[in-house]
Amino acid sequence: MSETTRHIPILLDPITDFLTQGLTALSSDKKAGVVVDCTLGGGGHTASLLQKIRALNNTVGHKVLAIDQDPDAIRRGKVKFEREIKSGLLEIHHIPFSHALDAIGNRPIYGLMADLGVSSDQIDSESRGFSFRYPASLDMRMNTTTGQPLSTMLQTWSEVQIADLLFKYGEERLSRKIARRIVDRRETNELPQNTKGLAELIASSFPPAQRHGRIHPATRSFQAFRIAINHELDELETLIGKIFPAVEPGGHLAILSFHSLEDRMVKEELRKRELYELPSRKAIQAPDQEVEENPRSRSARLRLAIKRGRVTLK
Ligand SMILES: C[S@@+](CC[C@H](N)C(=O)[O-])C[C@H]1O[C@@H](n2cnc3c(N)ncnc32)[C@H](O)[C@@H]1O
Repeated sequence: MSETTRHIPILLDPITDFLTQGLTALSSDKKAGVVVDCTLGGGGHTASLLQKIRALNNTVGHKVLAIDQDPDAIRRGKVKFEREIKSGLLEIHHIPFSHALDAIGNRPIYGLMADLGVSSDQIDSESRGFSFRYPASLDMRMNTTTGQPLSTMLQTWSEVQIADLLFKYGEERLSRKIARRIVDRRETNELPQNTKGLAELIASSFPPAQRHGRIHPATRSFQAFRIAINHELDELETLIGKIFPAVEPGGHLAILSFHSLEDRMVKEELRKRELYELPSRKAIQAPDQEVEENPRSRSARLRLAIKRGRVTLK
């Protein structure tokens, strides 16, 4: 594991300015609360939040609570933010965001952000198995301390399950053909042992003319396997269903997603106008210059919302 992060935070100021504004707008009698970064990663957004909260003359004692399910991200964060943790301005917890409330307890939540998906530290790692640029072991777990790696699941899922998840999470039109090919190899005990081999097997399911485009033919399948291995949509559903309701009235939310399945779920929830005020109806995209400097920001969609006050029914 590299000690320093390679991840470049996306839409940094639009997110952290918005969350800080949420704190500024609080009335002065509000007690100390937390701004939750559900996805610490390389700590880019957390660092900016800490800096902006410090500059607010934070005498009330609001703090940032950052969580991640990846033990490497937690280890890196604890070193990077040693000073802020000691001073009490930051807490870091190794939990999935569906369990965020366990760490937050009954402290008021005045801000919440999630930068969904994987970090560059995970994708660019030669050992974690998220990328087919290296012959990495078939793992793909964000939390390597629990759950099953992809290698085990490829031995466990039925052909129909593989086809369904490729279609549902990767919107892969050749899902059945790819699933058949994987299961054929499994039956002869010839499943690839690393990500590069798996990507080649997937690519071989495509007609030759479609194997060498700008986007590798295994990209959608890798996204689908990653979502399935990490239960990413279930996690997001719990975040929306359990943690959003716990945010205080007036609390600010910022959710950054990278594919339409996630963005659709967030958009659906924020459509509930009785619960959320939207500073902008459309998702915010990274400006051209950011996309040029950081191509990973191209598919980012940011949705901002402010929780409305509690409605009392007569
Ligand atoms: C895109 S990165 C975040 C990058 C971070 N905002 C930064 O600027 O460095 C996403 C991070 O969220 C974590 N993550 C994804 N899903 C999670 C979940 N359900 N619970 C906790 N952490 C999660 C991943 O492990 C990864 O480190």
